[in-house]
Amino acid sequence: MVEHDLAKVGVASSSLVSRSISPCRGHLRTLNSSFQPQGNGVAVVLTIASATRHFYFMQFIDLKAQQARIRASLDRRIAAVLDHGQYILGPENQALEEQLAAFVGVPHCLVVSSGTDALLMALMALGIGPGEEIITTGFSFFATAEVIALLGARPIYVDVDPRTYNLDPAGISAAITPRTRAILPVSLYGQCADFAAIQAVADRHGLPVIEDGAQSFGATYHGRRSCGLTRLGCTSFFPAKPLGCYGDGGAIFTTDAGLADNLRSIRNHGQSVRYRHERLGINGRLDTLQAAVLLAKLEIFEEEVERRMALGAAFSERLQGLPVVTPWIAPHQTSVYGQYTLQVDHRESVQTRLSALGIPTAVHYPIPLYRQQALLQPEVSLPVTEDLAKRVLSLPFHPYLTADNLDQLVAGVAEATQTA
Ligand SMILES: Cc1ncc(COP(=O)(O)O)c(C=O)c1O
Repeated sequence: MVEHDLAKVGVASSSLVSRSISPCRGHLRTLNSSFQPQGNGVAVVLTIASATRHFYFMQFIDLKAQQARIRASLDRRIAAVLDHGQYILGPENQALEEQLAAFVGVPHCLVVSSGTDALLMALMALGIGPGEEIITTGFSFFATAEVIALLGARPIYVDVDPRTYNLDPAGISAAITPRTRAILPVSLYGQCADFAAIQAVADRHGLPVIEDGAQSFGATYHGRRSCGLTRLGCTSFFPAKPLGCYGDGGAIFTTDAGLADNLRSIRNHGQSVRYRHERLGINGRLDTLQAAVLLAKLEIFEEEVERRMALGAAFSERLQGLPVVTPWIAPHQTSVYGQYTLQVDHRESVQTRLSALGIPTAVHYPIPLYRQQALLQPEVSLPVTEDLAKRVLSLPFHPYLTADNLDQLVAGVAEATQTA
């Protein structure tokens, strides 16, 4: 009965609904409940005597709303791939690389199999190997440091800036040794690291900088776009990313023609001519079907980026006065809010209460990378990273949040933090 009513008001994902609704199904049967369509979601108003409580069926990221906008272009572009049948390195890949390079403002772009493989291949192109050191952040997704360790090199962790959560340039010099080969900052949550300051340190030591821009594609730093700020920029097209495909994907950007050539060979098992393998590489290619999907999504990407920025700013404005720390965006930067992440006290209890209100949350990231079993460096201790790992909480965020969604999120945060 509940799912039937939800279907009537147009809730798209039945799996999402059943997951969200199961904990409160019993209550819904016994209470006087009504369903109110609100924007692209639905709110259930439960009336218990004089008290009214809301239950929102909010999605963490709404990919369906986006798909509805571009469905005709997607269908046409996917059909074109099925018609020509070049499923590997098809014409869509080249068209996508040209458009992405122009968007970022660099001469070379390679679309690749994932954000992780983008980082791995960038390090391989620089010839990183065993015994060498790469300076990076411990406050990121596992892949950032995983690729360093996969090549036998060692991640050297520097603490992050407490306002931006990105690598603190002030800590880099002290971490440089004769074995240091590169600096790998992450542009976390959609805002670029402080690349001018990082590059200044890198230049003093002759080190290349690689941006992990998996969460920041579309963001700007002093008017220039993420992934075009350093010798190598890498991003991810994982479906939940600001620009996502319908599977795994990623891209590498570079200003260096020689590196671009090496990367093309590494992406294809180290061959530039078929069956002549001059180096070790991987299968790091993006499927043509995913390139077709990304071409359709690129048509509306700039508009989505604008919307992300406006929504993120509005969200932060509305949360002022509540006991939370909202994202801080540095001067001369824009964020695409790859995640909309707060700092809260009593995180678990806030999460539980938000979940009871039908608002999903996520923690990006609960364990510093040097505390992960696979990358353990017990001697490392970085206070800002460790404090953030205990306090950060990401809320639903995507460019199709409605005014109602925003109201619900603000009301939910107010209620959850009041009672935490
Ligand atoms: C900061 C960061 N780096 C790297 C990656 C890896 O990207 P992918 O999942 O496409 O391999 C991610 C993905 O979550 C990420 O957030």
